[in-house]
Amino acid sequence: MRSSIRFLRRGEIVEVAELSPTATLLDYLRLTERACGTKEGCGEGDCGACTVAIGSLRGGRLVYEPVNSCIQLLGMVDGKEVVAVDDLSRREGRLHPVQQAMVDAHASQCGFCTPGFVMALFALYHAGAAPDRSRVNDWLAGNLCRCTGYRPIVAAGLEACAGRPSDSYAAAAGATAEALRGLADGEDVFIGDKTSFFAAPATVQGLAKLYARHKDAVLVGGATDVGLWITKQLRSLPKIIHLGRVEGLDAIADSGTELSIGATATYAMAEPHLAAMDPDLAELVRRLGAKQVRAAGTVGGNIANGSPIGDMPPALIALGATLELRRGGKTRTMPLEKFFLAYGKQDRRPGEFVSRVRVPKLRAGQVFRCYKIAKRFDQDISAVLGAFRFTVDGDRIRDCRIAYGGMAATPKRAEAAETALAGAELAGEATWQGALAALDNDFAPIDDMRASAAYRRATAKALMTKALHETAGVPTAGIRVVGQREAVLASVA
Ligand SMILES: Cc1cc2nc3c(=O)[nH]c(=O)nc-3n(C[C@H](O)[C@H](O)[C@H](O)COP(=O)(O)OP(=O)(O)OC[C@H]3O[C@@H](n4cnc5c(N)ncnc54)[C@H](O)[C@@H]3O)c2cc1C
Ligand code: FES
Ligand code: FES
Repeated sequence: MRSSIRFLRRGEIVEVAELSPTATLLDYLRLTERACGTKEGCGEGDCGACTVAIGSLRGGRLVYEPVNSCIQLLGMVDGKEVVAVDDLSRREGRLHPVQQAMVDAHASQCGFCTPGFVMALFALYHAGAAPDRSRVNDWLAGNLCRCTGYRPIVAAGLEACAGRPSDSYAAAAGATAEALRGLADGEDVFIGDKTSFFAAPATVQGLAKLYARHKDAVLVGGATDVGLWITKQLRSLPKIIHLGRVEGLDAIADSGTELSIGATATYAMAEPHLAAMDPDLAELVRRLGAKQVRAAGTVGGNIANGSPIGDMPPALIALGATLELRRGGKTRTMPLEKFFLAYGKQDRRPGEFVSRVRVPKLRAGQVFRCYKIAKRFDQDISAVLGAFRFTVDGDRIRDCRIAYGGMAATPKRAEAAETALAGAELAGEATWQGALAALDNDFAPIDDMRASAAYRRATAKALMTKALHETAGVPTAGIRVVGQREAVLASVA
């Protein structure tokens, strides 16, 4: 058992033994280190001003990912390298190539957003692979600038990230990886006492035991929800159990017929596996938050939080996913849709945690579609999300699974519509009408600031109609503005 956290800063190991369970990385940088280059804008993961790069080992290889330090708990960086904007020129002995490109492109005016952009681009610089404009846009979707305009910032990104990384961080990658391996001691971390602590167990058994003893503790995956409870709701959370160090809980396995995703797999980790299942899943993950959110947020957290507008649950429900929960030494499984009982109420017993979700892959004859409708393209929560899996037999739909987010108090299957669609003709729009009407029996959506009930009802029908047209063979190029499947499928063929 270790009663401190340890992480890498500027080539040195930093050890922190006194730690408030809810201390954020941003506060550590600004208030403890006085490294004030990193800015605080929104304090809720939306603006990217606080972006830092986190270095960690992925499959033995050092990767840098951008995260929002305002909602990243300090304890979560145990075993990682933290790179903040103040470090770059100090380490390079001159401006970092990304900073130089920002200067050359006149990509900064008031400068408040600039440290965040620099760090997002630093992570992209280290991702290599000479990004095109759309990739740079994706990497910067989590950063807001209110005065310069994005054109010169994107130009700086294109310029700086065009070649292979050749900065001092790339030169030291071997030594950094070695240092990170040295920090991975497999010890449980526990700082505090039984009334208030930050804990980060190293094994699933250790987690199960600790959580059974402290059923009132708050579990933290990526803290992209919990972080806001701290910074925006000012909640007191005396007992925190961070799941990110639990060995194997982030494992992703592909059996050929099923994708099994560990609860702490981040979106960034799950993205390539989901993308390989279907281009619509790739597009869904691309639009979930932004890079910073996807580098920290976990698939398990998205399910466990029970939000009616979480993006993964409807898609996974439509695919027929099964959820695995663990308490003590016991696990149980259930169809994912059964987990969501009512608004804010999930079928999770005291001391139980989400351990894994198993997603059947599409079989021959199955067609999957999902569409996220939000007010903004990037970094916005859904107003309505529709997900559809049709099993097609000749020119008819043999059976289907349909799930929506934003239409009820939980992510929910459209069972009446599913029944009405069984046997419908793909080419016969008239045979779809019963199912479209049945959506009114399935859902009684509410009005809120994201959408009116009438809009949600009309949108749900429009999405189902679109999915049916696409399944009937209408090219998506004629239907979709973005995310056209033909282009994606051609690029991977
Ligand atoms: C700027 C921003 C943009 C966002 N955009 C989107 C979006 O587009 N779509 C979307 O769906 N969400 C979005 N979110 C919400 C959030 O990112 C997701 O819900 C995310 O998946 C939560 O995962 P996490 O690991 O960060 O959860 P955490 O914040 O760590 O935890 C969330 C909840 O789940 C519990 N929990 C976590 N892991 C487990 C587990 N294994 N077992 C049991 N309980 C657990 C926690 O106790 C807590 O109650 C956004 C958030 C931010 C800040
Ligand atoms: S301060 Fe806005 S994302 Fe952190
Ligand atoms: S330069 Fe002022 S907000 Fe971007």
